[in-house]
Amino acid sequence: MTTAEPSAQSEEFDLGRLLAARGAERYELHARHLNHQLPRMLHTIGFDKIYERAEGAHFWDADGNDYLDMLAGFGVMGLGRHHPVVRKALHDVLDASLADLTRFDCQPLPGLLAERLLTHSPHLDRVFFGNSGTEAVETALKFARYATGKPRVLYCSHAFHGLTTGSLSVNGESGFRDGFAPLLPDTAVPLGDLDTLAKELRKGDVAGLIVEPIQGKGVHEAPPGYLLAAQELLHRHKALLIADEVQTGLGRTGDFYAYQHEDGVEPDLVCVAKALSGGYVPVGATLGKDWIFKKVYSSMDRVLVHSASFGSNAQAMAAGLAVLSVMENEEIVANARAMGERLRSRLSALVDKYELLSEVRGRGLMIGIEFGRPRSLKLRSRWTMLQAARKGLFAQMVVVPLLQRHRILTQVSGDHLEVIKLIPPLIIGERDVDRFVDAFTEVMDDAHHGGGLMWDFGKTLVKQAVANR
Ligand SMILES: Cc1ncc(COP(=O)(O)O)c(C=O)c1O
Repeated sequence: MTTAEPSAQSEEFDLGRLLAARGAERYELHARHLNHQLPRMLHTIGFDKIYERAEGAHFWDADGNDYLDMLAGFGVMGLGRHHPVVRKALHDVLDASLADLTRFDCQPLPGLLAERLLTHSPHLDRVFFGNSGTEAVETALKFARYATGKPRVLYCSHAFHGLTTGSLSVNGESGFRDGFAPLLPDTAVPLGDLDTLAKELRKGDVAGLIVEPIQGKGVHEAPPGYLLAAQELLHRHKALLIADEVQTGLGRTGDFYAYQHEDGVEPDLVCVAKALSGGYVPVGATLGKDWIFKKVYSSMDRVLVHSASFGSNAQAMAAGLAVLSVMENEEIVANARAMGERLRSRLSALVDKYELLSEVRGRGLMIGIEFGRPRSLKLRSRWTMLQAARKGLFAQMVVVPLLQRHRILTQVSGDHLEVIKLIPPLIIGERDVDRFVDAFTEVMDDAHHGGGLMWDFGKTLVKQAVANR
């Protein structure tokens, strides 16, 4: 038999041609084959846009309108989109045709990235590379249990650490957990409550406490002194402090890691992901002390006891090295601190002006804007109508005109929360900050003084919330 001729139909795969031919079907395809609620939700709030191109902190639609990104792909785009240095590193690593993922050799890039990453947490010694934030957390949970020989991990109320089964067990919101039980036997303690922590530790079965130094849901910061005091308590009971820096790490809060805001905090394990690869390639990293890794990988027999097929892949490692280099060369952490300060102080100045605005909080470029019950009668009755239907609708009412009228993408910081969270790319400049504050001021003016249209939209949201019950 002769070798088969390629059939007339089989054509070389061409990504550009495929996108040109079928890109317009994106919402329809998603509705048919993926999570159908996403396009449904996007249609409902008018977020069903077609973005054509992106660079830095902006993207553009087909008509050439520019949008300001205050969400950074849930924090993965720390350097904004398509940073030239990260992009070049990815082209280079593909062109290098490395013998990657043989699995039975030691590649140079993982060691180089670990070495460079560890310079930012000098008290830690080793790194496990996985592929996502939740995997970084799963690794920490397993390592803490194995290293201490104890089963229970404590977490904070309202915490978010990912959505696979282990990380879901340390999730502080019932909305995520309901229907997925039984989970791991882990226990919530209120963020900042040392007495409850001490009480749980006295039971003697606690492997560690996992904590976000600033919680992503609601943007709540651990109170001053809490992390250090918790660390001392944990160590006294031979339990570990696990800092989840998946969202707060890599400069987001104006320090390289948010736990570094206070002296003396030295978590035993640190979880990193999101921005580490510049948003291009999934990546996760769990950093830890030498003794913990030595215990988990205690013999040659145990060499693969915790591993991941794609862990340490060359693309993720190259992107990670490029990101860390850009962070240093372009002083990204300092920019996050300076722009965060400008954004927070300009927004804080509005709190006295608008009665629906109750607080602006956060650090660096992780800022929460909380809305609350107004004093005046007219606004209060509108507010009460929204609250009766569902908490979080007012924040949604603000997010929608920010996109529709001002072309700024933001998000409500969690289900049933009247908080908007701002986590823009860390490279934003003063013009972006001012554009956001001016737009937000207009939306607040509208909600307080005019805003028939805005409150009409609120009524639509109320109807939907009631219909969804
Ligand atoms: C603090 C924190 N931990 C873990 C995760 C999970 O990361 P991933 O979505 O990459 O699994 C997130 C995601 O938002 C997060 O914010």
